[in-house]
Amino acid sequence: MREIAIEGLTLGMCLSKDIYNDLGNIILSQGTEIAEKHLDYFRKHGIYFVYIEEIDDIISRDRYKNAMAHKLKDLNHAYGEVLSQFKTLYFEIENKNYTFDINAVKEGLMELIDTLLSDNDILGSMRVIALDENYHFTHAVNVAMLSAMICKWLNLDKETIYMASLSGLLHDVGKAQVSQTLLFKSDDLEAEEFEQLKMHSRFGYESLKNNPTIPKAVLAAILFHHERSDGSGYPSGLKEEQTPYFARIVAVADVFDAITSDKIYKKGVSSFKAFTIIKDESFRGLDPNISEVFLSNIAAFFVNNRVRLSDGREGEVVYINKYALNRPLVKVSNAFIDLSTDYSLEIEEVIS
Ligand SMILES: [Fe+2]
Repeated sequence: MREIAIEGLTLGMCLSKDIYNDLGNIILSQGTEIAEKHLDYFRKHGIYFVYIEEIDDIISRDRYKNAMAHKLKDLNHAYGEVLSQFKTLYFEIENKNYTFDINAVKEGLMELIDTLLSDNDILGSMRVIALDENYHFTHAVNVAMLSAMICKWLNLDKETIYMASLSGLLHDVGKAQVSQTLLFKSDDLEAEEFEQLKMHSRFGYESLKNNPTIPKAVLAAILFHHERSDGSGYPSGLKEEQTPYFARIVAVADVFDAITSDKIYKKGVSSFKAFTIIKDESFRGLDPNISEVFLSNIAAFFVNNRVRLSDGREGEVVYINKYALNRPLVKVSNAFIDLSTDYSLEIEEVIS
């Protein structure tokens, strides 16, 4: 990039840096092509110099845009493949027909994992896949994706990533045998209904345990993904290290996607509220190391995001405090609000 005086600008040049007004709001963003109206604006507002892209910047930007377009296409294709295979399996389990060969999912799931692992922006990737689809199906694929990313951040090998991701995909498949009325009930469940819902982990395990194509470690994750280290989970009330590793990975991914996803009857919570919930849960039952790795990697992507605070004001996340990942420093107009010390406010919504 290079800084250039307004007099030297040519129409069609592109800004290589955002331009802010006195209140700190972006008035022209990076990548904007200079038009006549912009020159007038600069003159009227006393802007004498701007940064513009040079040829190398333009080539690398175009390459980046092409790469992103390709990635998006690959991601949508792989997501669609995995979703479709999962639905086939789900309906087989609903109809108590257990002949599914899990290897049919492997190619699509590996493609999805490869696309995801090419960068770290898992939530960005998940945001661009907007599907008008049953939550229980999208939740399965989302948890498969999140589980894969957690494994990457834990520096685990490719085969382990695949196994954890498959565990994420299949973790709730037993819900196929829970009544639809219960699955989509908007009110709080009665105690007896909750007991029925809790049966889904056992239903999933029982349905697949004799299928020779499902690895044993994946079966264990299906059965134990609701176990918690304080013994409060189900179906067995396992404690701490007794819970299999994939089940612990899937548990973190499951909780995050479940509380941030919009359902028919309820809007999901903001990612920052979800960070708080996962952090709290890690003191009670979610694996604290896995939770920490997940939160510290995922929170970093929210720098520069616009957010709405609980008092209605909007601002921009400028710094994530590693000791308080859920309470970043936010710039509102010209003021900085440090949520790690100001507990009167919280982030209500991530806008962009
Ligand atoms: Fe579950």
